[in-house]
Amino acid sequence: MRLVLLGAPGSGKGTQGMRIARTHAIPQVSTGDILRAEIAAGTPLGAKAAQFVGKGLLVPDDVVLSMMKERLKKPDVKVGFVLDGFPRSIPQAEGLTVLLAAFAADLDAVIKLDVSKRVLLERMTGRWVCGSNCGAVFNLRSNPPQKEGVCDRCGGRLVQREDDTEETVRKRLNVYEASTAPLIDFYDSRGILMIVDGEGTLDEVTARIERGLAERGIARN
Ligand code: AP5
Ligand code: MG
Repeated sequence: MRLVLLGAPGSGKGTQGMRIARTHAIPQVSTGDILRAEIAAGTPLGAKAAQFVGKGLLVPDDVVLSMMKERLKKPDVKVGFVLDGFPRSIPQAEGLTVLLAAFAADLDAVIKLDVSKRVLLERMTGRWVCGSNCGAVFNLRSNPPQKEGVCDRCGGRLVQREDDTEETVRKRLNVYEASTAPLIDFYDSRGILMIVDGEGTLDEVTARIERGLAERGIARN
């Protein structure tokens, strides 16, 4: 099962990506998480990415594509994957098609999470993420951790993301509209777009995704 999660900042890609990965026993590959880990580790890639991530801008396509070329060579993705936050531009989507063709593979579905701007802003202001980069995401209002300030998944300390300031969030939403939203038509014209209402509880959204996958006959692993 090869899936892409598409949606605006705060639409629930990370949250639902983790659930899909667990249910179907496939890895979740989040370019945002990989880039944040590189930045935290102070690698050359991280140093380059930091200039863009901190401002809410997209990291250049060639940088992200070469990073994903390496990631998709790893053996764990042989069983499939759920991509969270990639592709994010038409050149990235075209690059992904080429990368997958090398494995004689293609995407099964692109899941677009639909969430209104008001709800996106509300969600991002209450978000806390695992500072140990395990990928877990919480929300003080809708999805609080069991113990305040501590990650349920790995016990790491919870932090707020540096790009979750009001100004950067606004920038990220504009970048999404300009560069990423065109992917909706791109994948719709290929017949693999699945639009899912991303509002409601976490469980309601998960159920809609699973129903959509089942209706399309996309097999469970
Ligand atoms: P990235 O980390 O991918 O950020 P994003 O796309 O802005 O999306 P978010 O992670 O903010 O939101 P999400 O959709 O994952 O929502 P979440 O599940 O957390 O990218 C960050 C940066 O890295 C980019 O700006 C760019 O610089 C760079 N980058 C990454 N990929 C790139 C690429 N391919 N090319 C170039 N640059 C790239 O949920 C949000 C909150 O809502 C959480 O608190 C959660 O608990 C809560 N929540 C989730 N679902 C619900 C629900 N149903 N009800 C109530 N609350 C909910
Ligand atoms: Mg995310």
